[in-house]
Amino acid sequence: MTKKMILLNASPRKNKNTAQMLESVMKGAQEAGAECELIHLVNMNFKGCMSCFACKRTGNKCNGLCAYKDELRPLLEKILAADAFVMGTPIYWSYPTGMFRNVIERLLFPILRYDLDEKTGGASKYIDKKMKTALIYTMNNTPERYDLVNYGTILAPDQQYMEMMFGSCEVLNSFNTWQFPDYSKYDSSAIDVKEKQWFRDNQWPKDLQAAYELGKRMVE
Ligand SMILES: Cc1cc2nc3c(=O)[nH]c(=O)nc-3n(C[C@H](O)[C@H](O)[C@H](O)COP(=O)(O)O)c2cc1C
Repeated sequence: MTKKMILLNASPRKNKNTAQMLESVMKGAQEAGAECELIHLVNMNFKGCMSCFACKRTGNKCNGLCAYKDELRPLLEKILAADAFVMGTPIYWSYPTGMFRNVIERLLFPILRYDLDEKTGGASKYIDKKMKTALIYTMNNTPERYDLVNYGTILAPDQQYMEMMFGSCEVLNSFNTWQFPDYSKYDSSAIDVKEKQWFRDNQWPKDLQAAYELGKRMVE
């Protein structure tokens, strides 16, 4: 049966770094035979978790799907029915964007059940949904600065929560991305443009290739 992959772009830019990484993932998945849908969140009207707790009511029929009805809900339903799910986001002020966070809240919280799991002694889940997932982060920082400012620690919980809910989650980082078409036209003297250009010429093609391979791997 044809596998289905849903990809979400949580960058406001529809054709820049994050979008291009996602397009490469999609290409890899499509070439491996998957049916893919890439959705840009920027024009969608949705909120984060409203804390209505409809998904925690005893006897609720949510089945792990957020009860709050807005433009995101049908998309969440699609994700829960997919075989693979990828979300990409730029890093803004050391964190994923608000759009990314809203999706994480609305996708993961309805699956979490506050009842005790007898086997693990931890919280349980309303559904046992297994699928391949991945998170893609693009950022200005270099790998060295990523370590220095502890981005690994900041970003780790989202990967862990995705693993907890869906059984797997790979992470792909793209560092020191190209932000403007022409740096000479922007106030950017603190930026080492030569170093950025080096990343653009040498690292960026490798990042796109890694994204392509990730897409293939996820649906094979
Ligand atoms: C509001 C804003 C805040 C940002 N904050 C950070 C940051 O804290 N760390 C970082 O490495 N890059 C930061 N960046 C750079 C972006 O993460 C980076 O350019 C990213 O690749 C942009 O993705 P896009 O091309 O898909 O829009 C910021 C960019 C913007 C617009």
